[in-house]
Amino acid sequence: MEYTGAIKKIYTILSKKDVSDPLQQVVDFLQKSFAQYSWVGLYLVQGDMLILGPWKGKEATEHTRIPLGKGICGSAAKSGRTEIVDDVSKDDRYLSCFLSTRSEIVVPIKKGRIVVGEIDIDADAPAAFTKKDALFLEKVADMLSKHI
Ligand code: SME
Repeated sequence: MEYTGAIKKIYTILSKKDVSDPLQQVVDFLQKSFAQYSWVGLYLVQGDMLILGPWKGKEATEHTRIPLGKGICGSAAKSGRTEIVDDVSKDDRYLSCFLSTRSEIVVPIKKGRIVVGEIDIDADAPAAFTKKDALFLEKVADMLSKHI
């Protein structure tokens, strides 16, 4: 799917008054709409931990609680900057969740300058994420921040 259409669709999901779990719906939509997004999850900041919220993918992850600063997820949450890792096997910070994962993107969700959560996406292909994915997911993160 192309990014502009996806932003419109996510806007529609989040505008509906009667949606019971809008964050889960956005996660499901992202995972099914972009072939390279194998696993999509949201982590929410609670104190100095990231707690796994809605997710969609083949398998559950054992990393349901990640301390800020640990892993690629914890690094992005601590710095407030998007992380793109083209080859997870070459990144010492990487916390392995799925044997099939080759690349990963983590995009912080902020209220002002405060990180309140993040979008974490794993791909089975190496270097699956581009600057375009980062810009797209940063827009999605902005939209989600009002719902956290
Ligand atoms: N790989 C992440 C942990 C989360 S799983 O990908 C779902 C990391 O290094 O922080």
